Amino acid sequence: MRILITGGKGQLAHALKREFEGHTLYAPSREELDIADFEKLRETIEEFKPDVLINPAALTAVDFCEDVPEAAFIINGIAPGKMGELAEQFSFVLVHISTDYVFSGEKSSPYLEDDCPLPLSVYGNSKLVGENLIRADTERHYVIRTAGLFGPGGKGNFVKFVLKNVMAGRELSIVNDRYSSPTYTVELASQIRIMLEKGVPYGIYHATSEGECNWYEFARKIVELKGGNTELVKPVSSEQFVQRARRPRYSVLENGKLKSLGINLFSHCFEALEKYLISGEI
Ligand SMILES: NC(=O)c1ccc[n+]([C@@H]2O[C@H](COP(=O)([O-])OP(=O)(O)OC[C@H]3O[C@@H](n4cnc5c(N)ncnc54)[C@H](OP(=O)(O)O)[C@@H]3O)[C@@H](O)[C@H]2O)c1
Repeated sequence: MRILITGGKGQLAHALKREFEGHTLYAPSREELDIADFEKLRETIEEFKPDVLINPAALTAVDFCEDVPEAAFIINGIAPGKMGELAEQFSFVLVHISTDYVFSGEKSSPYLEDDCPLPLSVYGNSKLVGENLIRADTERHYVIRTAGLFGPGGKGNFVKFVLKNVMAGRELSIVNDRYSSPTYTVELASQIRIMLEKGVPYGIYHATSEGECNWYEFARKIVELKGGNTELVKPVSSEQFVQRARRPRYSVLENGKLKSLGINLFSHCFEALEKYLISGEI
């Protein structure tokens, strides 16, 4: 397959490049292909002629998006919509990566693919616009909602942040009232490959680790597995830990469709974390 991967220097792009190594890949960085430059996007597709376009590129800094809503909506919303139009025109399959932050977090059981989204932030809203435009523009799409990504490559992630601080002896205050299923990029990339190989029906899919935890529990687990001092990780409530963007209290996703197809490969989030830590690629 000819596979175009956007945001080639990102964290998930790193795992995707490895997972699809045997294929003809082009994974331009933001500098090489700005997805908000729609002319360049079209030209790149015309020249490379992908069978599949995987779009992990996004403005992912959730608080920063509150400051630059216009850029967030263009990169996370309008650009994926353009990709949907181009998928129809050039007959490729579009794999778009979305987020648990499209949900409000008011539920107390895991969100299913057809639960109604209600984002709380500019980031979540902009990602939902991307989902909706893609679904309106092309049938040949996989919109994959994931959460709390960690893995090698990219500029950083929660695991690296916690280890860097705690290993330097610094105390960290981490929220203990927001629940999610942190997900290993390596597992997500494998899941995407399997979906493409099997040609599963198009549509929205939830693709996150099994199990759930709050961020404080996850941080403690990171430090515990590394043999560090867990006492340096202190629990705080979201009310005490003020951030610019509102975040869902409970954004655990159920991989309902993957399970019904019998192809859900995800580990429990703590097991996935262990795999990442022993990979030696932090
Ligand atoms: N990270 C998470 O916890 C998480 C959770 C749920 C869903 N997701 C979704 O998963 C996807 C992958 O996340 P990730 O962790 O791999 O994020 P990441 O490491 O921040 O990678 C995103 C990449 O996109 C690039 N980018 C930003 N604007 C661009 C543009 N206009 N044109 C081309 N490239 C652009 C970034 O480049 P620069 O760094 O140079 O800006 C970065 O390399 C994203 O769609 C995100 O919304 C992530």
